[in-house]
Amino acid sequence: MPLEGPLPAARCPHQPVEVAVGLIGAGRRAQAHLATIAALESAGYYRLVGVADADPTRAASAAAAYGGQPFASVRALLEALARQGPAVAVVVTPPEAHHPVVELAAAHGVHVLCETPLSFSLLCADRMLAAAAAAGTRLETAENVWRFPEERAKRQLIERGLLGRVGLAQCRYTSGSYHGMNALRHLVGSPLASVTGDSTVLPVPRQPRAGGGETTEVAWEGALLRFANGVRGIFQLPVRPGLGSHWEVDGDLGSLEGSRLRLGGADGRRVEPERRTERRSDLEVLVGIAYGEVDLWENPLRDLPLPADTDAIARADEHLSLHRALSGAGPQDYPGQEGRADLAAVLAIHESALGGGCPVAMPMAAGGEHDQRLHAEYSARFGFPPEEAAAHLEHTPFPPSYPLTR
Ligand SMILES: NC(=O)c1ccc[n+]([C@@H]2O[C@H](COP(=O)([O-])OP(=O)(O)OC[C@H]3O[C@@H](n4cnc5c(N)ncnc54)[C@H](O)[C@@H]3O)[C@@H](O)[C@H]2O)c1
Repeated sequence: MPLEGPLPAARCPHQPVEVAVGLIGAGRRAQAHLATIAALESAGYYRLVGVADADPTRAASAAAAYGGQPFASVRALLEALARQGPAVAVVVTPPEAHHPVVELAAAHGVHVLCETPLSFSLLCADRMLAAAAAAGTRLETAENVWRFPEERAKRQLIERGLLGRVGLAQCRYTSGSYHGMNALRHLVGSPLASVTGDSTVLPVPRQPRAGGGETTEVAWEGALLRFANGVRGIFQLPVRPGLGSHWEVDGDLGSLEGSRLRLGGADGRRVEPERRTERRSDLEVLVGIAYGEVDLWENPLRDLPLPADTDAIARADEHLSLHRALSGAGPQDYPGQEGRADLAAVLAIHESALGGGCPVAMPMAAGGEHDQRLHAEYSARFGFPPEEAAAHLEHTPFPPSYPLTR
C-alpha cells in the first residue's frame, strides 16, 4: 500500500475559559506539570490557585516559582479551590496517596487530573471512580504514553491500514508497566480479553535501584495477552539495566519497529518518522509528524506556547482534555476507567501468577488475591488500612514509591 492519502483534520484546541487549578504533591513529576500549567495559564485556560505538599518547603518553592499560594494542608487547598467554582486538582503524590486525595477532592466538588498509575490497587482505583461518580466530579488519567505525538502518528498508520491486518503487538517497558500496557492497548485499539502472566524476583549483577541505592535482584513480569479483536500480545518488564522501553506491532502488510515503519517483509521499505518543527517567536514548536512524503499527524496544540518536547505536548493534552469537558466543549480523552484498565492489565499478571499461570479474564474485578496482598502490605507499611487513608492524609508524608515495578 503506498504511503499517501489526505491530510487528517487537526483537532483544534477549544476556546480558553479560565478554570481554577491547584496542584497536590510538589515533587519531581510536579515540576513538569507546573510548567504545563504555566503555559496553559498564559493561553487563558487555567489559573493556578495554589500548591499543596506535606513538605511545606516544596509547596513554598513551587508557589514562588509558578504563583498561587503554598498550602501545607491538602484540605485547605481543596477548600480554596471549591470556592472558585469549577476547579481542578492535579494529583501528583505517590500512588498510595492518590485515592485519599481523589476522595477528598470529590467531597469538595473538585475535579481531578490524576497521575499514573491511577492507584496502587484495583480496590482503591474503584474507590476513586466511585467517589467521583457519587460526587459528579470528573476524573481524568494523566497517562502520557498514548498521547505522545509519535504514538498518535503510529495509531494513524494502523488506522489507515498500512500494516494491514494486525496480529501481534509486543512491548518491553522499564519504568511503569501500566505505561507499556497503555501503549499496547492504544495501538491495538481493542480492550484486553485475557492476561496470562508470571512474575518473580530474579538475581542480577549489582545495579542502581530505582529510588536510590543498589540491588542484586529485581522484579520481573512477563505476560501473554489476548485482545478482544483477536490480536495477540507479549509484555515484559525486563531485568537488564539500560535495555530501554520498546514496542512493536506486526501486520500482514508491514510492521512498526519502535517508531520505524517497515512496509512488506524482510526486504521491505523502511520509513522513519520525521518531526516537523517551526520557530514561533522564542519557541521551537512541533507542527506535525510525517512518514516519508505523507504529513501523517498534525499537532492540534501547535498554536499554544508549548515546546516541541514529546512529554510537554502529552501533558498539555491531559490538562486540556479535562478542561474541554469542564467547559462543555467535548468529552474527556482518558477518564478514570481507562487508567483503571491500564492498571488492571498489570495487576492481572500478578493475579495470574498467583493462580499458577491461569489466564485472567478481563476486565478483572477488584479484590483478588493480589489486591488483598497489596492492601495487607499497605496496612503494615503505613499503620492504617487503605480504606482509612483519607483520615490520615494530613499526617502521613507518603514516600516515593515504585509499587508496581521495582
Ligand atoms: N506519567 C509519568 O511519566 C510519570 C513520571 C514520574 C512520576 N509519575 C507519577 O507521579 C506521581 C509522583 O511521582 P514523583 O516521582 O513526583 O514522586 P515524588 O516523591 O518526587 O513527589 C511526591 C510529592 O508528594 C508529596 N506528598 C507525599 N505525601 C503527601 C501527603 N500526604 N500530602 C501532600 N503531599 C504529599 C511529597 O512530599 C512529594 O513532594 C506518582 O504517581 C508517579 O507514579 C508519572
